[in-house]
Amino acid sequence: MGLFTDAIARRIAQLRAEIEHHNYLYYMQDEPAIPDAEYDKLFRELQALEAQHPELLSVDSPTRRVGGAPLKSFAEVQHSTPMLSLNNAFSDEEVRAFDARIREVLGVQTVEYAVEPKFDGLAINLSYRQGVFVQGATRGDGSTGEDVSENLRTVRAIPLRLQDASGATIVTDIEVRGEVLMFNRDFDKLNAQQRANGDKEFVNPRNAAAGSLRQLDSRITASRRLSFFAYGIGRCEGLTLPAQHDQQMVWLQQRGVPVAEQRRVVHGVEGLLDFYREIGTKRAALPFAIDGVVYKVNDIALQQRLGFVARAPRFAIAHKFPAEEAMTTLLDIDVQVGRTGVLTPVARLAPVFVGGVTVTNATLHNEDEIRRKDVRIGDTVIVRRAGDVIPEVARVVLERRPLDVREFVMPKVCPVCGSHVTRQADEAASRCSGGLFCPAQRKQALLHFASRRAMNIDGLGDKLVEQLVDAGLVHTSADLYQIGMSAIANLERMGEKSAIKLLDAIEHSKHTTLARFIFALGIRNVGEATAKDMAMHFGTLDNLLTADVERLQRVRDVGPVVAQSMVDFLSEAHNREIIKQLRSLGVQWDEHEPQADKILPFSGKTFVLTGTLPTLSREQAKEMLEALGAKVSGSVSKKTDYVVAGAEAGGKLEKALALHVAVLSEDELLILING
Ligand code: IVH
Repeated sequence: MGLFTDAIARRIAQLRAEIEHHNYLYYMQDEPAIPDAEYDKLFRELQALEAQHPELLSVDSPTRRVGGAPLKSFAEVQHSTPMLSLNNAFSDEEVRAFDARIREVLGVQTVEYAVEPKFDGLAINLSYRQGVFVQGATRGDGSTGEDVSENLRTVRAIPLRLQDASGATIVTDIEVRGEVLMFNRDFDKLNAQQRANGDKEFVNPRNAAAGSLRQLDSRITASRRLSFFAYGIGRCEGLTLPAQHDQQMVWLQQRGVPVAEQRRVVHGVEGLLDFYREIGTKRAALPFAIDGVVYKVNDIALQQRLGFVARAPRFAIAHKFPAEEAMTTLLDIDVQVGRTGVLTPVARLAPVFVGGVTVTNATLHNEDEIRRKDVRIGDTVIVRRAGDVIPEVARVVLERRPLDVREFVMPKVCPVCGSHVTRQADEAASRCSGGLFCPAQRKQALLHFASRRAMNIDGLGDKLVEQLVDAGLVHTSADLYQIGMSAIANLERMGEKSAIKLLDAIEHSKHTTLARFIFALGIRNVGEATAKDMAMHFGTLDNLLTADVERLQRVRDVGPVVAQSMVDFLSEAHNREIIKQLRSLGVQWDEHEPQADKILPFSGKTFVLTGTLPTLSREQAKEMLEALGAKVSGSVSKKTDYVVAGAEAGGKLEKALALHVAVLSEDELLILING
């Protein structure tokens, strides 16, 4: 190689490394370090150099990630070692039986397990020769899959070369196994695009990922943002891998392969079940879909001793979450009136078991959603209940539509109070114009006022509010503090004892906080967090009552919409009157100096919490830091001031160390806080 080509080869290598680094930051860390235009410049320079020097082309060049000419069909790929499936467990008992079986076979007291999410995507096998990605295949029937190499090459999360931190490429052949999936936000974007183009929407992220991966035209795959997580190693020759599964995952991660952050090592069956519950609560907040968790005996030698039964390993099991979707019949559509007068169409369903409970009602959100999903009364529908979210009608099974379905029409008048229904041009919601004249709105407003996070009036639930309003005893929240013993005791199913209890609870609620009081008023767009920020900012109610739109916008996270809602609410004479009455009836709180323009000790500082802290929960630590003015963020970047790391901190800790961000233990954090 001449001196000149030598320099070009070096520049090409440098560009490739740099572009892949930016791919990693952009696609995996979600933190681009350079503007798109800069990235494009690097990319074009590399493309140009490669075009001038075809002898320097390479299969692992990032320029190969944009897709190429369409294929006629996918070639078949024989897997070198079969891609197995997992046995499923649906209950704690099945998990206990799995663990008992393993302890019996191994003759041990407790077993160490590696536990991780069960990704809801598509299984694939990636083959690397001498560290370079050469082929990728779908699972197929387990022994034979389809060659989707060109498509997988476009997935930025999949490294085209396996290199460790020192830049050394591994020198043997290895297979990486894992799951291709689409993050929820990329799925939402894709469907919005499909809608805009008049194309069919994808049913869920899994289908979108499958549809995108099985494109004969890899340029289409390149235009969809797919992701990848590894969960295992297939064939691997001539390399000594770590002897534990979790360490193998770390080993892969150190070579640029993405692995789940939510991995742990636990001991014994209780550890398994704790993990299941922990991930269950986090599931809805994860950026991608999972359908359970997977437990694996951590020690690879023990895995081998346990072996396989039929097509599944004995050393691993999938503990599935209850199905989140089920099919049923939509019997009718009712309209419910909410606290702010919004009319919500609600589907009445033939009872169906979904997400672990029996569901008979599901929200249809609004008129536009009904049209968009083309839902008709009498349809067979798919109901979705994800986590604690209210069940919704996800879609219609058109193939099962009977001939006599009926269309839904939004009523012109409120079904509760008869006031006319309005809909603003820029809003999807229809609203009852009755305000607090509408008993439905009044009831909802009272329920909100009494709710746990607002005034916390224990025992004032649905039924009671219904009776109090219907009997004409209570019109506004202030009336609650004026009802007498006899009026309550005369209500249906209300003995003297319960009446006393309720009056006690009402009395008790008078001692509250400014934040709760603001939240309890039920002002549009003013949720719990905003109410807290406002209370903190203004310190006293009178400061808040006299604030204008501009002043309100100085509260953290308050923009023009929220500020305007507040001003609108306070400009209604009857709202001010109720506030006045509530105060004169004894509702009170401690007031303090406005914190408005005060600099708090951690103002302007950004913290990231990771791992399990010894005594504080994530939520507690977050609240503590926020109260001191800190911002608590979910990801580490150069702008992070401190990372607070607990047990089993993973990628975030590594990143903090790499970026030289200060890392604190819980003890150190507490010392910092206490000065
Ligand atoms: S391990 C020999 N781990 O579940 C065991 N599989 O039902 C190989 N899956 O086809 C699988 N997340 O596509 C494993 N963390 C995980 C997984 C996982 C999802 C899928 C995988 C496999 C299917 C088995």
